[in-house]
Amino acid sequence: MKGNRIIGTGMGLPSRVVTNEDLAKIVNTTDEWITTRTGIKERRIAEDHETTSDFSALAAENAMEMAGIGPEEIDLIIVATLSPDRLLPSTACLVQGKIGAKNAACFDLEAACSGFVYGLAVANGMMPDLGVRTALVIGAETLSRVLDWTDRNTCVLFADGGGAAILRHEGNVDRGILSTYLRADGSAPPPWLAVEPGVADLNPLSEYGSRDFAIRMEGREVFKFGVRALPDAVHGALKLTDGLTIQDVDWIIPHQANVRIIEAAAKSLDIPYERFVVNLQKYGNTSGGTIPIALDEANRDGRIKEGDIVALSGFGAGLTWAGAIIRW
Ligand code: ACO
Repeated sequence: MKGNRIIGTGMGLPSRVVTNEDLAKIVNTTDEWITTRTGIKERRIAEDHETTSDFSALAAENAMEMAGIGPEEIDLIIVATLSPDRLLPSTACLVQGKIGAKNAACFDLEAACSGFVYGLAVANGMMPDLGVRTALVIGAETLSRVLDWTDRNTCVLFADGGGAAILRHEGNVDRGILSTYLRADGSAPPPWLAVEPGVADLNPLSEYGSRDFAIRMEGREVFKFGVRALPDAVHGALKLTDGLTIQDVDWIIPHQANVRIIEAAAKSLDIPYERFVVNLQKYGNTSGGTIPIALDEANRDGRIKEGDIVALSGFGAGLTWAGAIIRW
C-alpha cells in the first residue's frame, strides 16, 4: 500500500427536499410505486441559482474542517461529475476559486456513477509520485438540470448534491487505500443510460437545456447490469489486496441507485444487508455524489471505526464500474 489515507469527508446538499408525494403531483406516479421499486422516499433538488460547484465547494469545506487543513494545503482537486456547471472551465477550477485552494492542480473526471471511485483511484495513483501530498476528490451533481420532468421513468430516481474526501499521503502507515479496480464496457448500447443529444456529436448544441437534453434509461437493462457490477467491483478490488476476502469487509458503500440492486448484491456476495451503508431513501440517486455522501454519513455517525475495512462499489453509465478497498 502507498500510505494514502482519507483524513476528512464532507457532503454538500441542496436544502430543498422533494418527496415522492411532491413528484406524484407532476408525473403519473405514486409514493407506493417509487418506494417498492426503488426504496427512495425523498431527494434533494437544487434551487435555480445552485450548481454542482456549489455542492462541491460545500462538501470540500466540510471535509477540510474534519481534516483540520486549510485550502492552500491541497495539491490536487478532482471533481467527478456528469453535470458540470459549464463545458468550460472545469468544475474543479470553479471549486478551486470558491474555496481558495490556490496551489491545486484541477480537472474534472467523467465516469458517471463510478466517478468518485475513479477519482479516488487517479488521486491515489498521483500520490506522492506526481508531487501530490494532499488531494481533494469530489463526486457531485445537479442532475435535476439533465432530467425530463415529464418522464416518470427517470425523474423519480435522480437527484442533486455531492460529497468529498481529503486524501493525504502519510507514507509508512498501515491505514489508507489498499486497492482500486476500474472497469468499463463501451460496447453497451447508449440508450441503456445516456443523454442522447451531443455537444460535438450528431445533434446540435441548440438542444442543450431543452427537454431532449435529458437522461434516458432502459431501467431493466441497467438493473441487471447493476446486480452484476456491484459485487464484481468489490471482488475485483479485494483480489488486488494482500489476501483480504469478503469476510474481512466491515462496510460496503455501494452506489445508491436502487435498494433492490443492493439487496441482490448482498445475496450474491453472501454478506448481511446490514453491512451496506444505504441512505438512498433520503437522497435518491445523485450519481457521482452517492458514494462520498454515504461515506461521509457513516464516517460522521461513527459507524466506520478506525481499522475497519471499507469497500466502495460504483457502477453507472459508460458502462463503468469501480471498486476500492480502504483500511480506515
Ligand atoms: N411511477 C409509476 N409507474 C412507473 C414509473 C413511475 N415512476 N416508472 C415506470 N413505471 C411503469 C412503467 O411504465 C411500467 O409500466 P408498463 O408495464 O405499463 O409498461 C411499469 O412501471 C413497470 O416498469 P418496470 O421497468 O418493470 O419496473 P422495474 O421493476 O424494472 O423498476 C426501475 C423500474 C426502478 C427503473 C428499475 O428498473 C431500476 O431501478 N433500474 C435500475 C435503475 C438504475 O439503477 N439507474 C441508475 C444506475 S446508473 C446511474 O446511476 C447513472
